[in-house]
Amino acid sequence: MNLFEVKGLHAHYGKSHILHGVDLVIPRASIVSLLGRNGSGRSTLMKTIMGLVPPTAGSIALQGRELTGQRPHAICRQGVGYVPEERLVFPNLTVGENLAMGVQKAHADVHSWTVDEMYDYFPRLKERRDINAGYLSGGEQQMLTMCRSLLGNPRLLLIDEPTEGLAPKIVEVVMEVILDIARRGVAVVLVEQKLTIALKVAADVMVMGHGELVFQGTPDALAENPDVRRRWLEVA
Ligand SMILES: Nc1ncnc2c1ncn2[C@@H]1O[C@H](COP(=O)(O)OP(=O)(O)O)[C@@H](O)[C@H]1O
Ligand SMILES: [Mg+2]
Repeated sequence: MNLFEVKGLHAHYGKSHILHGVDLVIPRASIVSLLGRNGSGRSTLMKTIMGLVPPTAGSIALQGRELTGQRPHAICRQGVGYVPEERLVFPNLTVGENLAMGVQKAHADVHSWTVDEMYDYFPRLKERRDINAGYLSGGEQQMLTMCRSLLGNPRLLLIDEPTEGLAPKIVEVVMEVILDIARRGVAVVLVEQKLTIALKVAADVMVMGHGELVFQGTPDALAENPDVRRRWLEVA
């Protein structure tokens, strides 16, 4: 059975038809980079998987269990985590309290994360554990958002542009953490605008164009396919 499977997924914003039948399979836990030009529908796909945008057709299944049509919190509880592009922290709660908000019951078959592991990943958050999250820098808020999602013990983690606006040194730290998350058996779907990074960490890449998946394969296969790169990735 595939870990995660999306079939014929369609989604609309009002009358705008955005996802046009997305088919996607993640057989087992690994890092998958979701590539595409701006506006190709990557964020919408993540939101639709999370139930934040209602699918108008198609199905979404995690370990064979149907998620389609469920509410976002129910989808989250079944093991799908989401780190949105917008940094979502509770500004008037401390860093520690923000992390506590994310803690959920452990599943038997997936790594259970602790707050101390989060502080090991990002010592900066530990230093600032008693400070209100509203005072953190954008990068720190991004780390906090990622940690809070991890504490929900996801089997599948959707991460939307985690390194945007971060200093190069912090980008490296965030990517190391993402690699470690995957090593512990969590499947990661990563939207990452920096192509070199996206290709370096991923076992597989998927390319979206106009609301459809136009390519799925290894980073090497993509490197050998100038056609796909020219048509769907490089800025004309
Ligand atoms: N809330 C929204 N309402 C209407 N249209 C939207 C909304 N969010 C995104 N879109 C449109 O949907 C398309 C896909 O956007 P998005 O999923 O954000 O792409 P990506 O993340 O790949 O840049 C774009 O044409 C965008 O303008
Ligand atoms: Mg986006």
